[in-house]
Amino acid sequence: MPSAQVNNRDRAPSAGSKAGSKAGSNAHPSGDKRFKVLDITMKRNQHRQDALIEVLHKAQEIFGYLEEDVLLYVARQLKLPLSKVYGVATFYHLFSLKPSGAHTCVVCLGTACYVKGASSLLEALKNQVGIEPGETTDNGQMSVMTARCIGACGLAPAAVYDGKVMGNQTAESVLDNIKGWLD
Ligand code: FES
Repeated sequence: MPSAQVNNRDRAPSAGSKAGSKAGSNAHPSGDKRFKVLDITMKRNQHRQDALIEVLHKAQEIFGYLEEDVLLYVARQLKLPLSKVYGVATFYHLFSLKPSGAHTCVVCLGTACYVKGASSLLEALKNQVGIEPGETTDNGQMSVMTARCIGACGLAPAAVYDGKVMGNQTAESVLDNIKGWLD
């Protein structure tokens, strides 16, 4: 398992520190509901540090890939050094740290979104852009990914455009939202 330099900046608050005095008490400031879904997984595992891999799996399932902000959040909530979380995320090839495209469209394929036609969003993307989930356009401008329930079921079908969650998506709105990405 790779290890990286740990410094104080990337160390999660210690058990005795004020900020870290209660596991899971620091909700993500963005209000992004995907973090709440991740919180449920961590809570179910009682914020145990040995549940890190399971938590990262869930995070990738929700976000499509493990962006830095997500790794920081997991480190903080599980009171682990960021270097440890980063080390695990990079060690296992099934985790992907970033999409290869400059822009990312993540389509939710969770149950609520699926029954409301999420696959038609992917179909529209495939027809217009020519790529399938997990692929990036040849010019590196855009990646399409899928996720499992991003916490916006009431707005199904939902998709995330460069980190911004949008609900009630249609084939037309998806194409509208990526307009300009491929130029
Ligand atoms: S199933 Fe898509 S947001 Fe929950």
